[in-house]
Amino acid sequence: MAISRRQFGKLCLASAALAPAARVRAWGGGGGGGGGTTVQPFQVPLPLAPVLAPVSSNSTEDYYEITARTAQQQILPGAATTIWGYNGMYPGPTLKARVGRSVRVRHINQLAVNTTVHLHGGHVPPSSDGRPTDIILPGSYKEYVYPNNQLGSTLWYHDHTMDVTGRNVYMGLAAFYILQDDFELGLNLPSGDYDIPIVIQDRSFNTDNSLYYPTVDGSVLRNGFQGDIILVNGAVQPYFQVENRKYRFRILNGSQASGYQLSLQSSTGSNPSFVQIGLEGGLIPAPLTRSSITLYGAERADVVIDFSKFPLGTQITMLNGGGYGSTGSVMRFDVVKQTGGDGSVVPATLRPLATLPSAVVTRNITLDFDRSLNRWVLNGKPFDPSRIDANVKLGTTEQWTFNNHSGEVHPMHIHDIMFQVTSRNGSSPYAWDKGWKDTVAVDGWGSATVKMQFPNANAADAQCVGPYVFHCHKLEHEDYAMMGQFNVS
Ligand code: C2O
Ligand code: CU
Ligand code: CU
Repeated sequence: MAISRRQFGKLCLASAALAPAARVRAWGGGGGGGGGTTVQPFQVPLPLAPVLAPVSSNSTEDYYEITARTAQQQILPGAATTIWGYNGMYPGPTLKARVGRSVRVRHINQLAVNTTVHLHGGHVPPSSDGRPTDIILPGSYKEYVYPNNQLGSTLWYHDHTMDVTGRNVYMGLAAFYILQDDFELGLNLPSGDYDIPIVIQDRSFNTDNSLYYPTVDGSVLRNGFQGDIILVNGAVQPYFQVENRKYRFRILNGSQASGYQLSLQSSTGSNPSFVQIGLEGGLIPAPLTRSSITLYGAERADVVIDFSKFPLGTQITMLNGGGYGSTGSVMRFDVVKQTGGDGSVVPATLRPLATLPSAVVTRNITLDFDRSLNRWVLNGKPFDPSRIDANVKLGTTEQWTFNNHSGEVHPMHIHDIMFQVTSRNGSSPYAWDKGWKDTVAVDGWGSATVKMQFPNANAADAQCVGPYVFHCHKLEHEDYAMMGQFNVS
């Protein structure tokens, strides 16, 4: 039955018009295995991953232990699904950190496969970056040290193992890492129970409710895997019961290859907007009201949604304009509780954006598919962990232009630093580019230019020397070698 599943996957990629009736149908019907599970949206509450408590703390550091292992998790009605999870959870436990206070994590690998753990968006030394070849063998462990010498931001940690990152993340190895700083905490944004991280991921399931992922070298993998069921925090299109007040949602596209075009549709009155307050690198200079937000793999949007104007009983659905049928909606907010008061605010100015010096080095990187190699390539070359593609100097400002020589979007991610987008397709950046980013979605046949300074302000920065990777964050593209390497010295 795998063949019909793959065919279905191709249809998805080709954006075939699925009748809405096909919605919420797990693999198994439609000429496939027959008798598959049928799931309906908005049946389960939004799960919130627990915030992990440190094993120990001292005056400068919190120490954690996390074990990657298999577990059974109830995702669909009926049989539980085997996942690979940090501490046996999918998504894994959230780590909360403070700027200026370091975090040390012992990652124990109790899976039967190699792992590495990357703190996505982290400014950390290469030895703690979870390089694709810096693996943790089954039964072994590795300690990662995160200095948290950067701005408050919504980061995440996930597997990054050479050639199998896609599979490992798909099985569940991803979680939030929320880094806070005094400035942000002083703004009185919605916090505590009103500050909710949500990760959107698409998956497909076999008829026995096991996760379906293609294992053979084929077009579905090479193109980037897209599932037919949307999970938010590991639950199928959940609902979230809210008070009629403001909430902050830290939205992460943690999917393999899908992009989402998110909007809100209310069952009563006019539709609310997102008030965007941040992106990958934390707060933007000023809030931005948006009716629709597009996120590609690894991109984050930090938004406030104000439910105060809606009568109790209102249902607000987060739609995905990039989807159809079962992937056309993401989750639903149910306004059910009278607030006891909302003291939070969205200030008119958030964090001022530092101006970078002019770039002293410019680089051009082409994004391409090499048919003879059957690999995605950067500047014509597939990833080689022993090759350095760019030598950069601490403290210098560089400008990189990604030129997309293919027809599909590639969300390009650079390790170690946050950048600013300075140009899109040869024109000005978008209004919503203003801020610090670590991933930029490069349009099909288009281009994007980013500018970054390799920080050299303090002793922690001086440790961030050595090799780092940059790559497409469509995870299957990454596994198909769409990755390069720079060395900081
Ligand atoms: Cu989120 Cu190198 O990856
Ligand atoms: Cu990263
Ligand atoms: Cu790509």
